[in-house]
Amino acid sequence: MIRYFLTALILFTGSVSAEQTLSIIKPDAVKGNNIGDILAHYEDGGLKIVALKMVQLTPEQAGQFYEVHKERPFFEELTTFMSSSPVVVVVLDGDKAISKNRELMGATDPKKATEGTIRWKYGNSIGENAVHGSDSEATAKEEIQFFFGPHEIH
Ligand code: CMP
Repeated sequence: MIRYFLTALILFTGSVSAEQTLSIIKPDAVKGNNIGDILAHYEDGGLKIVALKMVQLTPEQAGQFYEVHKERPFFEELTTFMSSSPVVVVVLDGDKAISKNRELMGATDPKKATEGTIRWKYGNSIGENAVHGSDSEATAKEEIQFFFGPHEIH
């Protein structure tokens, strides 16, 4: 009996992968009054909002956050845009939250995003694409720590 229970427990825990990921609702989506609808996409998609705040980044902070893109030709455009007006930063929690969130966001270029995704609905261009989402477990951890202390995540 105990053996069956343990086997079932291992099978169950092996199929569920609880993760946290960072989302940024970018200046274009905040200015467009789309915060509520974007949050609804996350909740309807099965993700839980466990931390949330509105912040205005300085160009330096935006540069620090997107450090990985420092050598890219669009870096200046990206950091200027991300610091142009407030953004909403959100920690999302759930089974396979990182890939789930990327699925809900759609492709980086809104023109290539699947119909019904957040970027398909609200993105204007590859630069002004409504939302950012972490792309791996390591990045998610770093990005969450960039904006939130441990006691701000519930
Ligand atoms: P994001 O998911 O926030 O990660 C990096 C961002 O760089 C990306 O979304 C785009 O908004 C932006 N980006 C990527 N490629 C380009 C590009 N060719 N021109 C301008 N911005 C870009």
